[in-house]
Amino acid sequence: MDKVIIFDTTLRDGEQAAGGMLNFQEKLEIARQLDKLGVDVIEAGFPVSSEGDFEAVKSIATEIGSATVCGLARAHPKDIDRAWEAIKGARRPRIHVFVSASDIQMVHQLKKNRQQVLELARDMVARAKGYTEDIEFSPMDASRADPEFIYEILEAVISAGATTVNIPDTVGYAIPDEFGQLIKGIVEHVPNIERVVISVHCHDDLGLSVAHSREAVRQGARQVECTINGIGERAGNASLEEIVMAIKTRNDFFHLATSVDSRQIYKTSRRVSELTGFAVQPNKAIVGANAFRHQSGIHQDGILKMPKTYEIMDPRTVGIPASSLVMGKLSGRHAFKERLAELGYTLSEDDFHRAFVAFKELADKKKEITDRDIESLVAEELRTVTEVYHLDRLQVTTGDRGVPTAAVRLIGPGDKVLADAALGTGPVDAVYQAINRLVGLPNTLTEFSVKSVTEGIDAIGEVLIRIESDGVTYTGRGADTDIIVASARAYINALNRLLAAKRPAG
Ligand code: KIV
Ligand code: ZN
Repeated sequence: MDKVIIFDTTLRDGEQAAGGMLNFQEKLEIARQLDKLGVDVIEAGFPVSSEGDFEAVKSIATEIGSATVCGLARAHPKDIDRAWEAIKGARRPRIHVFVSASDIQMVHQLKKNRQQVLELARDMVARAKGYTEDIEFSPMDASRADPEFIYEILEAVISAGATTVNIPDTVGYAIPDEFGQLIKGIVEHVPNIERVVISVHCHDDLGLSVAHSREAVRQGARQVECTINGIGERAGNASLEEIVMAIKTRNDFFHLATSVDSRQIYKTSRRVSELTGFAVQPNKAIVGANAFRHQSGIHQDGILKMPKTYEIMDPRTVGIPASSLVMGKLSGRHAFKERLAELGYTLSEDDFHRAFVAFKELADKKKEITDRDIESLVAEELRTVTEVYHLDRLQVTTGDRGVPTAAVRLIGPGDKVLADAALGTGPVDAVYQAINRLVGLPNTLTEFSVKSVTEGIDAIGEVLIRIESDGVTYTGRGADTDIIVASARAYINALNRLLAAKRPAG
């Protein structure tokens, strides 16, 4: 069957989302999971943009076994050389060169005319081709460009060696029918188009990115660029899970296939959400908490009689665990290990040990432990940042009369025990003030949210925070049945990330 190439840009465009910064370990972990998911291409980053991105792309390139690893480059010699340096260790390397192609961007941002941009694109693709065979080219803002110019520039870059031409709706301005017509026009008017794969890259500013991608596929595109949970610049990119599941579920319409193992979708979505700190909205298609929940009595009745009455996909095909009520106080190591395996986790001995201890502690406080609880505590134990500071003890006094007070004990560098106390406007403020006195890292709290992992008064509370220091945002996450403890952990987690980012490399 005809195949659609799935090009994942979670680690490049997805990470570009405001506040979505990932560290080296986190990028590597996501890349491994994307490879397991079966995407064809992983756009691992933009190597020239920072030393950190360069190092992450380089490691992903050498480690990833199956997928093509792609590095992004502007149409500048320096970008292309740096992209190649980063990806040259990959089994299947790709350089992705882009340049603005709409008049508005060429005139006001690049200050170049069409002829100059066309020559630059052709020359830079030729330069990239000197390094490797697999070259992708994107005329940025193509949906707002003159189609005649798009035809011309594509013809030139294909002659210079591009093997994939990617048509971006950079600012999410297009309408599906119009975008489909652009792809059709390219198929009809670019003389050498049959030599390359047509790709599309759509943003979600009008909530139409997935619709554009599907329309483009109908008109002959055979690569779709997308991200897990649809994260990305501004309103995000087309969501991988929606595209893959539409092609799979409506195979009768598309007659197309992808290489993605759909059973890995749920796990990938959860992990990307945990690591980026971007929550998945409950009504999000495919991976939202309500995507397979039936509330109406009539629907529930139908589902019990025959799931297909109201369910167009079996939740197991996207890897949503079949049962939700699993374990308790009496469950042992073996049962816990098995449940982890069913949920798709393979932990090292150390991580497993910590997760099991946390599970037992939780089981003492909470009668029934669900899969969501297990996912939350595993995320808590799978440390992706070196813990310079660790929460040892915490005591808080609060109420409507007294002054909120917190006493905090941390284990700091060299296992030093540090303790202090502070007052605050509320218990969380008091805890944060006490931690500030101990750690002394100036920052501003820009986001604080708390949500319960499951229903019930004994549920785990997950706290997500973002802090800003020198213009950079750091995310922190903490989970506990006590939300003040979870808040303290989230803050320490964010501070550890800040410290890791400031530590000199090497
Ligand atoms: O949105 C866009 O145009 C991009 C390009 C770099 C492909 O992200
Ligand atoms: Zn983009």
